Amino acid sequence: MWVTAPTVTHANDGLGPLYNARSCATCHPKGGGGRPPDPAAEGDQGVGYLVKLNGDPVYGRQIQTNAVLGQTIEGRPRLRYREEAVRLPDGGTVRLRRPVLEIADLGYGPLAGATALSARVAPPVHGMGLLERIPEADILAGADPDDRNGDGVRGRPNRITVDGVPQLGRFGWKATHPTLTRQDSEAFSLDIGMSTPAFPDPWGDCTEAQGDCRRGPHGSSPQYEGLEIPSTIIGLIDGYLRGLPPDGGLEPPKDAAGSALFAATGCAACHRPSFTTAEDPAHPDLSRRRIFPFSDLLLHDLGPDLADGVPMGEARGQDWRTTPLWGLQRRAGGDGRLSLLHDGRARSVTEAILWHGGEAAGARSAFMALPAAERRHLARFVLGL
Ligand code: HEC
Ligand code: HEC
Repeated sequence: MWVTAPTVTHANDGLGPLYNARSCATCHPKGGGGRPPDPAAEGDQGVGYLVKLNGDPVYGRQIQTNAVLGQTIEGRPRLRYREEAVRLPDGGTVRLRRPVLEIADLGYGPLAGATALSARVAPPVHGMGLLERIPEADILAGADPDDRNGDGVRGRPNRITVDGVPQLGRFGWKATHPTLTRQDSEAFSLDIGMSTPAFPDPWGDCTEAQGDCRRGPHGSSPQYEGLEIPSTIIGLIDGYLRGLPPDGGLEPPKDAAGSALFAATGCAACHRPSFTTAEDPAHPDLSRRRIFPFSDLLLHDLGPDLADGVPMGEARGQDWRTTPLWGLQRRAGGDGRLSLLHDGRARSVTEAILWHGGEAAGARSAFMALPAAERRHLARFVLGL
């Protein structure tokens, strides 16, 4: 928990001035995932739900929904859904909900005309240490940007330039961060408003147009490398996350028929079942382990229905990282409800599949054409990974 500067305990200083939440655990409760607001519940803001922007000249890269005393919040997401029905070839129907998002109570004037909104829910943060140790060459071996095997599925790595050096992105919905350190540091900057060695601005996401925020209270201290969060604390948080095992995916799935169905439907073309982690003498427990994350960690174009108009690194608006499916139940909130896909719109595995388009259009059609019992079997298999 971080509090407003100045305080007696310096290590807790520097929240904001604008922020989304005071701690990592607010958005990743018990290391789990978030959910979107429930439009039927007045004032509900969801859990770990935030709105990214494609770089607004005033609001920056994210809408901060909280502010320390004396500062103005940027706005509040207001979400509603339009219900749609998809008819399956066998006559069944599935109801989908398409999000319609606005920002209410804008604190700094209107958003720029070109600003795109991209809602995201917090993913669970289990198993990150293992994903971090998948050898880069094995991820790149799965890429097929020109679709040379003609299966309609491409897969490209995201490349992020850090200090002038391009690196392979692994973390986040668009594989924007190459390491846990970058991911965790950016969370401090954008979500909590605190500076780290990687993102040293104490005002987080405040732009030059937000002078009050830039002049607001900061907690940088000489004792902490002139920052609000020194490298020692980032190291502790990275280490804590590395120690959180995935909630599944440490053994091959037992349901052989389910595995075969998953592959035959085309899901495994992106949701790659397994990898073996690299040797890492510093982390023997994470070394040379066969893991079953069900992701190729590559970007795929999933079509216009999921596109958000917010490019990140080499990921375009319609590109998303194949979400690891291990421990999928972790995507469920405390009440057991699922909120799948980057903005949590899908309430079930079936709904999530029906939103797949673009490179996954073939797998979606193959799924729709399955007999109902096999569709249920596939969904059950995915939930149990
Ligand atoms: C306001 C809510 C919020 C807070 C606070 C927050 N996160 Fe997150 N976190 C998210 C969201 C949303 C994403 C997905 C971001 C994206 O890629 O668009 C995410 C992504 C991540 C990921 C990547 C997971 C993956 O599957 O690749 C890690 C790791 C992570 N957060 C760690 C942290 C840490 C550590 C902190 C505290 C310093 C933190 N988060 C604070 C909402 C939050
Ligand atoms: C072309 C690559 C591709 C194929 C083929 C594909 N997926 Fe996906 N899948 C993705 C990507 C990328 C996402 C993330 C999309 C987003 O969040 O907007 C995703 C997300 C999901 C999710 C949501 C996970 C979560 O935690 O939010 C589920 C469930 C899923 N896929 C299951 C399947 C199943 C089952 C199949 C086969 C019928 C399949 N996928 C085929 C790429 C693919």
